[in-house]
Amino acid sequence: MNKKTIRDVDVRGKRVLVRVDFNVPLKEGTVADDMRIRAALPTIQYLLDHEAAVILMSHLGRPKGKVVSELRMDPVAERLAELLGRPVKKLDDCVGPEVEAAVEAMRPGDVILLENTRFHPEERANDPEFARQLAGLAEIFVNDAFGSAHRAHASTEGVTHYLPAVAGFLMEKELEFLGRATENPEHPYVAILGGAKISDKIGVIENLLTKCDRLLIGGGMANTFFKAMGFEVGDSLVEDEAVETAGALIKQAGGVLVLPVDVVIADAFDNEANTRVVAPNEVTPGWRILDIGPKTVSTFESALGGAKTVVWNGPMGVFEMPNFAQGTFAVARLLAHLDAVTIIGGGDSAAAVRQAGVADKMTHVSTGGGASLEFLEGKVLPGVAVLEDK
Ligand code: 3PG
Repeated sequence: MNKKTIRDVDVRGKRVLVRVDFNVPLKEGTVADDMRIRAALPTIQYLLDHEAAVILMSHLGRPKGKVVSELRMDPVAERLAELLGRPVKKLDDCVGPEVEAAVEAMRPGDVILLENTRFHPEERANDPEFARQLAGLAEIFVNDAFGSAHRAHASTEGVTHYLPAVAGFLMEKELEFLGRATENPEHPYVAILGGAKISDKIGVIENLLTKCDRLLIGGGMANTFFKAMGFEVGDSLVEDEAVETAGALIKQAGGVLVLPVDVVIADAFDNEANTRVVAPNEVTPGWRILDIGPKTVSTFESALGGAKTVVWNGPMGVFEMPNFAQGTFAVARLLAHLDAVTIIGGGDSAAAVRQAGVADKMTHVSTGGGASLEFLEGKVLPGVAVLEDK
């Protein structure tokens, strides 16, 4: 990585503003999944060990520029304090006189978490004055929010116009592993894509087709390919407007593309629905595809044989329902047994490897959903582009 990191700047005795991605799922007012908080700990701990005062900021959810009490950062501050084993002072705003006073009073080793940056419409608008106010709180800016690096917002992009800006350790690690997959993968390189929609992933598919040796596709997005092949897909989720594109991708991909050879179909979108395993061209009208079948798992296993690099983004079925999670979990287990660099795109696939109990067998599980997809698409992430080069 050619970007400066916190190792390249002197943080001792300084106030350091750190953009983290603490956009975590909440349940009944507590953090339901703290993966993103844990992932930011090495950066925070390093800064504290080097006698910096640490000011953390993040968005949480999509409050649309207004204060939404359920999206306050308090539960995040509580969890962070537990994980760090030291107090975290949570403020009720992210700019303004009270925030400035609190920050002014900080001592080395103190930790402050600002309020949800998206309570201000200026955050998403990347308003320069708002960015200047955020930047005014500190002497150095650290971006450790890989998951938000595809957003050109005030807290990810705007602040860098006013402060020296470097990467944190999580950002560094994400760029290193995802960069390895996109720039310099060891072959055979196999990519696995799933999830509901193909429209979000057309750019990724096109880019991966130029790089990988095999591209395995499962999940709802495979249905649109089946439709392009002229199959009856019953009530399966299909993106009609993407059928033509899917047909073109099939032609472009040639032998690189591997589609499911059997699927689990159900007579309702319900975990308790009646199910059958059929070939993709044998879907009963009125039924819908909700998972890949066992023959597909074997096909994917062969396609993964000998792979040296594997990237996976998106589940193979509706894995939130246990009866349609088998395909996704089977793929997770296949990856766990490979002697390869395995990189899991964030979001659902990260949740899937954790639920399958194999997250620790993967080389890297990304904390970025949309960000990892845009990276795999070959796009330059605005939050990364503005960090100082080495
Ligand atoms: C994510 O969860 O992908 C990031 O935190 C970005 O959130 P956003 O899609 O609301 O910008």
